[in-house]
Parts: sequence; C-alpha cells; structure tokens
Amino acid sequence: MSEKIFVFDTTLRDGEQSPGASMNIHEKFRLAQQLAKLNVDVIEAGFPAASPGDFECVKNIAENVRGPQIAALARCSTKDIDTAWEALKGGENPRIHIFLATSDIHMEHKLRMSREQVLELAVASVRHAARYTGNVEFSAEDASRSDLDFVCRVFEAVIEAGATTLNFPDTTGYSLPEELGAQIRYLRENIPNIDKAVISVHCHNDLGLAVANSLAALNNGARQVECTVNGLGERAGNTAMEELVMILRTRADKIGLHTDIVTENIYPTSRMVSTITGMPVQPNKAIVGANAFRHESGIHQDGVLNERSTYEIMNPSDVGISTGNIILGKHSGRHALRDKVKEMGYTDLSEDEINRVFERFKAVADLKREMFDDDLEAIIMDEVLRVPEAFELLHLGAMSGSRSMPTAAVRMLVHGEQKETVALGVGSIDASFRAIAELAGTSSKLLYFAVSSITGGTDAQGEVMVRIEDQGKVVVGQGADPDIIIAAAKAYLTGLNRLEYLKKEYKR
Ligand code: KIV
Ligand code: ZN
Repeated sequence: MSEKIFVFDTTLRDGEQSPGASMNIHEKFRLAQQLAKLNVDVIEAGFPAASPGDFECVKNIAENVRGPQIAALARCSTKDIDTAWEALKGGENPRIHIFLATSDIHMEHKLRMSREQVLELAVASVRHAARYTGNVEFSAEDASRSDLDFVCRVFEAVIEAGATTLNFPDTTGYSLPEELGAQIRYLRENIPNIDKAVISVHCHNDLGLAVANSLAALNNGARQVECTVNGLGERAGNTAMEELVMILRTRADKIGLHTDIVTENIYPTSRMVSTITGMPVQPNKAIVGANAFRHESGIHQDGVLNERSTYEIMNPSDVGISTGNIILGKHSGRHALRDKVKEMGYTDLSEDEINRVFERFKAVADLKREMFDDDLEAIIMDEVLRVPEAFELLHLGAMSGSRSMPTAAVRMLVHGEQKETVALGVGSIDASFRAIAELAGTSSKLLYFAVSSITGGTDAQGEVMVRIEDQGKVVVGQGADPDIIIAAAKAYLTGLNRLEYLKKEYKR
C-alpha cells in the first residue's frame, strides 16, 4: 500500500532567498493561490519577523488562502515566535516553524552557544510556540553535519515539548544520498518518542544532489519533503518539487510513495514562478524545461509518433504541458477563451482578468497567423501578475534604419497624467527605454535584458525579461508582444511599476 508524502512548499520563503528573486505582496498572494491549486500540504509563506513586508504577506496568505496549512518561520526567540503567530493566527490551519542550528560549526561560530544551551533554548521555544498551536515544526539547522546523537537528544526533547514535525535540513547541500538516508534511519531507530512526530527533510542543491538526497530520506522513513518550484532557493537552490513529485509518480512501481499534488498544475506554476522572479528555467531542466518533452533526432521523433512510450516516460499533459496545439483564432469569443484558459489550469481568474486577457488575445490574434497555448499563457502571465499601474503605455512609435538615428516617440500615463516625449538611442529599444525613463522620472539601472521567442516563426510573440535596480531594490519585469520593441517597453514598464509598488509597500 502506497504511503502519502506531505509536500511542504517553501518557494515563498527559502525560494525567495534566491538572489534577485524577491516578490511583492501581490505576487506572493497569487503564487500562494496557485500552490493551493497544486494541492501542496503546507505553504511556508515567509519569515514574519524579517520585515513588515514579510509580516503582511504571511498574514494576507494565512487569512485568505484556503486548503494547505500555512507555515511561518521563526528563530528561537520569543519575539520571533510571537510575531509569527500574530501573522498566522487568522488562518484556518497555521503552523509555526522554528529553527536552531545543532552542528558544532554553527553552535561555535554563529550562535556561540554550548550544546546544553542549544537544547534548552530549543525546548523553551517549542514550548512557547505550542501554547499558540498544536502544529509546531522544529528544524535542526545544519542537521546533516551535526553529531547525530545530539540531534536525537534535541528531537526527543522538542517532541516532549510539543513539536509535531521534525525537520532534518541538509543546509549546506553537503550530504550524499546514502549518508542522508542512513541518518534518517538512525533517527527513527534511536529516538524513543519518534512515533509522535513526522520526520521531514529539507535539502539544498550545492552538489546537485537535493532531489536524490530527499528521495533517499523518504525511502528511509521521512514523510514530509520540503521543496520549491523550479528548485529555487538560497545559493544553488532547494529540492525541485516538480522533479520529486514526478519521480514518485512515474516510479510508483518501485518506490511505493505518493503525494497529493495535482500534477497537471505543475507547468503553469513553474511558469508563474519564473515570470514573477525573473529566474528563467534552463531549457534542459527535467519536467518543466522547454526541451523536456522535445524530440530532435529523426529516429526519436519517428518512435514517438508510432508509440509515445518508445522515448517518453511521462505524458507531457500529466504535468500540464500542452502539445503545442493551435488554439482559438481571432474570431473566437470570450466564452471559448474562458474555457481554454480553464483547461490550461488557470481556474481562478476574475471576470476583470478574463476581460483583459481577452482584449490582449484579440489584439495579438489580429497580428499573428496562428495562436498557440504558449502565446495565450504569455498573455495570461502579463495580465494576471500585473501590479497596480503608476505608468501606462499609451503609444510607442520607433524608427530605425541603417542610415537613420534610432528614435522613439512615447506617450504614457504617469500617475494618471498624460505625458509624451521623443528620445534618441543606439537602437530602437535603447531609444524607447530612454524616453520611458525620462517620462517616469526614474534613475533606476537596467541590470539584465533578455529576449526570447515564445513560439517559432518571424510572427512569434517575443518575450522580454528585464531586471532593474533602484536604491538597492531589484525587480524584474516581463512583457510579451509580436513586436519586440513593444515587448521590451512593456517589460521595462512592468519593472518600473513594480519598483513604484515596492516603494509604497515599504512606506506602509
Ligand atoms: O536550509 C535550512 O536549514 C533552512 C532552515 C531554516 C529550515 O532553510
Ligand atoms: Zn533552506
């Protein structure tokens, strides 16, 4: 009989610790809703004591997202735990997640505490949290490099104090699969009250072993896995949820463990995470990479056409990847579009969002011969993840040529007021950005600019991703359009709108 593995998603907390991957309250809420649709068991929504912004995000998610348990991280301090509870208490099923390092390296050089002091503080903190809720997780930071008998002592004591989940992190991504598997087995065999708690595993990917290590831990008795969408996370990232979930599903014959993840929502969630964070997914990434289900060699293509299982071990539709069907045309109505959007896994768009997607869809379908699922998805991402707009593009005209000076004329709404200007640049995109920057009055710096094509052909929609910085705050912007100069301008404006939004968030 297959046993259930609890999926603890930490994209909003550890995932956000990826350099440059910060998300605003609006984006985090959207992503939390999407994670609920994916049916994860626990969403770690943030670290409320870290900043007022983080506090607001956790509170908003706890109060409004239904389905998964909502967890918040806290150090072993009364203030952190109280703040975490304050953010969580309006939720249906909150979890306080406390962490404290147990390795000699961390205790000596970071905490400057003895083993006895760490044990005492861990117990006191769990006891404090347990006064608020019966759902308390304790993480022994750097557990995989800790003295295992000491971890057993700490775990036994915190279970006694009220912890119901014990997390064993490979914080530095140092473990090998057989080692981590043996450590989890050791916990099971040497902690007398271990049956009162769930063992969890939390792996980092510094040696590219996060998924393999997590699997080894599950094979040895861990029943919760902590992971992130696209493997996002501190340094080289965390266990990639989509990979682990699909391993358990595809090799159920051998492993005998399952999750409750709605796998058809994996791809839309992956796209959403990469759009929001501006962290592209590498094309050859397992499960969600652009090439994950593409067959290049003629022999392979022929094999798949005759019988899919010759070269495919998973069905792309099982992870929500459409097979590149031409979809709807410019004469399709709103109703057909709504059905298609739902079929693609976006089931909770508001009426206003559907209307905006429909308008954009019509405009693009007028220009393009064929519309693919990916085209529609790019439009959905653009429209749905929009933050309230300080700057709105009304018109952009750009001119370039081998003998003329590239010029852009831009008309924009700036906080509701119509403004226009003309600028020169080294190319049309440069000229447009200069005009937009002048109208927006921004001194932000462009850190990154990338263009890709959503589908094939010269009439394909171009997708532009930018990363911009202002006074230490880094945001991403993305835009899609059949005209690459317009796509670039949209991406830049999305970024500038996010910066404005962040400024307001920080003022609150
Ligand atoms: O990597 C780690 O140890 C963590 C803990 C806070 C669980 O992220
Ligand atoms: Zn971590």
